[in-house]
Amino acid sequence: MDRYAVLGQPVGHSKSPRIHAAFAASLDQKLLYEAYEIAPDELGPSLSRFHAEGWAGFNLTVPHKLAGAALCESRSDAAEQAGAVNTLIRTTSGWHGDNTDGAGLVRDLIANLGVEIRGKRVLVLGAGGAARGILAPLLAEGPAELAISNRNPWKPEEIAAALKPLGNIVPRTHLSLKGDRYDLVLNATSAGHAGAIPRLPPKLFADGGVAYDLNYGQAAVPFMVWAKADGAARVSDGLGMLVEQAAEAFRRWRGVRPETAAVLAGLRG
Ligand SMILES: NC(=O)c1ccc[n+]([C@@H]2O[C@H](COP(=O)([O-])OP(=O)(O)OC[C@H]3O[C@@H](n4cnc5c(N)ncnc54)[C@H](OP(=O)(O)O)[C@@H]3O)[C@@H](O)[C@H]2O)c1
Repeated sequence: MDRYAVLGQPVGHSKSPRIHAAFAASLDQKLLYEAYEIAPDELGPSLSRFHAEGWAGFNLTVPHKLAGAALCESRSDAAEQAGAVNTLIRTTSGWHGDNTDGAGLVRDLIANLGVEIRGKRVLVLGAGGAARGILAPLLAEGPAELAISNRNPWKPEEIAAALKPLGNIVPRTHLSLKGDRYDLVLNATSAGHAGAIPRLPPKLFADGGVAYDLNYGQAAVPFMVWAKADGAARVSDGLGMLVEQAAEAFRRWRGVRPETAAVLAGLRG
């Protein structure tokens, strides 16, 4: 039986084993998917050992997405653009690194939530691994403007310069957003894990504007509450992105994309 796992620290809270077990059951496929707590300095040796033991693939979560990219013998374009990997696919001699976060987000926005990106003004808050992973897929959907703003004001400049060959990303600071309006504001910060939100000027949403938090559960509450109060017409957490990025990983491993609606409904239930 093919074996997969999510590697992280901490990883006990991960919903990935439940999601992949549901995908496998829905397609009548036999596989094993576990969760392993791995310390940062153990990632390299662990991946070598897992390869020797015949494991078929891994998901990487915090804090391994950046370090994992350097440990792969090859990387997809999405992984190169993100500078981070969340999916490892076994090769004969090592691991191929991919990043399905951006594809998962875009799928959740467009297919599940019916949110338009084409021709819209889109703002990404945060400039960590998650933000980097979603910028190129968002650009590919043809927004009228794609801006990125972060607490540390240097990171948006660096990211916009690095992704310049793919298109125009407008680097902003939170303070400079005062007076601007966006159709879609994505919170890709980890502030919600501390019950916080980025410090933003008011009235950030255009008429009908949508707020989307990449976080889910309690970590998504502060931003969604703020966004509603600030005038967002709709708000969503990132649980759909989690399920859709998992479906993309499953497809890369197993060659078939599972249906996601029932799995997402089960998690929400
Ligand atoms: N739904 C999904 O499938 C999915 C997938 C990936 C990630 N995520 C979530 O997305 C979030 C970001 O992940 P990541 O990997 O990008 O993390 P990361 O690399 O650690 O980056 C964290 C980002 O949050 C910002 N930040 C942290 N605390 C803040 C605060 N109090 N105020 C303003 N900004 C703050 C940081 O700003 P500075 O640069 O100024 O420090 C940085 O831009 C995480 O909470 C993660 O769980 C969800």
